[in-house]
Amino acid sequence: MDNFSFQMSTKYVFGKDSQKKIGELVKPYADRVLLVYGGGSIKRNGLYDDVVASLAANGVSFVELSGVQANPRYETVLDGIELVRKEDLKLVLAVGGGSVIDTSKAIAMSVGADDVWECFSAGKKLSRALPVATILTIPAAGSEVSPDAVISYKGRKLGFSSQKIRPVVSVVNPDIFITLPKNQIANGVCDMMSHIFERYFTQTQHTDLIDSLAESTLKTIMRNALLLMQNPADYQAWSEVSLGGSFAHNGFLGCGRMQDWGCHAMEHELSAQDEKVAHGAGLAVLTPAWMRYVYKENPKMFYQFAVNVMDIKADRDEEKVILAGIAKLACFFQSLGQPSSLRELGFTENSPLEEMAKKCSGEGFVGNFKPLYWKDVLNIYKACL
Ligand code: NZQ
Ligand code: ZN
Repeated sequence: MDNFSFQMSTKYVFGKDSQKKIGELVKPYADRVLLVYGGGSIKRNGLYDDVVASLAANGVSFVELSGVQANPRYETVLDGIELVRKEDLKLVLAVGGGSVIDTSKAIAMSVGADDVWECFSAGKKLSRALPVATILTIPAAGSEVSPDAVISYKGRKLGFSSQKIRPVVSVVNPDIFITLPKNQIANGVCDMMSHIFERYFTQTQHTDLIDSLAESTLKTIMRNALLLMQNPADYQAWSEVSLGGSFAHNGFLGCGRMQDWGCHAMEHELSAQDEKVAHGAGLAVLTPAWMRYVYKENPKMFYQFAVNVMDIKADRDEEKVILAGIAKLACFFQSLGQPSSLRELGFTENSPLEEMAKKCSGEGFVGNFKPLYWKDVLNIYKACL
C-alpha cells in the first residue's frame, strides 16, 4: 500500500425530503446565494419550489443562474461570476448533476483566481473559493463529494482539482431521481463504475481492503442498476446506486494505491469534440477496449475483477477468464442501452481521431496502469470504431 492522505469534508445529508432542509443547511455559510440549475428538470419535478420555500423559511435570499448545459461551458461560468460579483453573493448552491455542480464550483473559484480558466488550462493555484452546496438530481459524476470540476472551452474539456471546491454540504434524496430518463440512468451508472475502475486497476501491491470494498461497490451498483431499468421509481435501488456513486468518487476507494484515469482523459476528448456525447456513454464504449488493450500489464488484477465482480468461474486458463470478464462487462453496458462503438456515437474513420489522441496525451502520456502515449490512445479509439 502507498502513503496517502484522505480528506472528505462534505456534510452528506441523505434521504426522503432532505432537500427541504437546504435553507437551514446553507444559512450558517451565507444569507445571499447564487442558485444554479440546468435546463428545467427541477421546475418540472417540483424540486425548485421546495428549494425556494426552504431558502425563504430560513431568511436566505438568492439570485438565479439557469440553463447550464450538459458538458458545461465556461461562458456560463462567466455569467455566474458576473452575478456573484455584482450581487455580492457568498455561497453557490447547485441544484443538478455534474454539469450544474461543476459550473457552480468554477463560479465559486472566482474569489480566489482572477482568471478562473487559467486554473483549468495552466494549473494556476487557487487561493480560496466561495463555499458550494449541492442538491443532487442525478447520481453519476460524484461531483457532490469530489474536489473536481470539469469545464469545456475553446475545443478543450479540462478538469481542475482542489479541496477548496469540495462541496461543504450535499443533499441526496433518491425520490428526486425517479424522473430520470433511462439513458441518463445508464450514463450515470457507467460513469460511477468508471470512477471505481480508474482507482481499482492499479499496479500497487497489497491493496486488499480497498480492492474488496471497490468490488462490492461495483456489484451493488450493477445489481441495483438492473432493478432501475425495470422500475425507475424503486427508491431502495436508487438509494444503493446513489450512495455507490458518491462512494465511487469521494476519494476513499483511491486510498493507498496508484490510480489510472486514462479512460476519463480519453473520454473528455470525445465530449470536447462533440458536446452531444454524454460522458457516461463515451466511457461505456472506451472502457472494455481499454481493458483489452492494457490487461497484460497486470493480468492478476483483471483475473480478480473477472472472478470477484463479473462472477466468471475461476479457471487455470487465466486469459480466458479475463476476456470473459471484459466481455460480460461490455454486455452489461449494452443491457443498459449504452452504445458499444464510437460509430454509434457519430465518429467515423474521417473523424480527427489522431488530433484528438494528440490533444489527449500531449507530449507525454495519460493513465498509469499502462502509460498511454498518443499512438496508444489512437489505437484504442480505432479499436472502438
Ligand atoms: O438540465 P436539466 O433539465 O436538469 O436536465 C439534466 C441534463 O439534461 C438531466 N437531469 C438531471 N437530473 C434530472 C434530469 N432529468 C430528469 N430528472 C432529473 N432528476 O440530466 C442531464 C444530464 O445532466 P448532467 O449534469 O450533465 O449529468 P452528469 O451528472 O452525468 O454530469 C456530467 C458532467 O460531469 C462531468 C462530466 O465530464 C460531465 O461534464 N464530471 C464531473 C466530475 C467531477 N466534478 O468530479 C467527475 C466525472 O468524471 C465527470 O467528468
Ligand atoms: Zn466520470
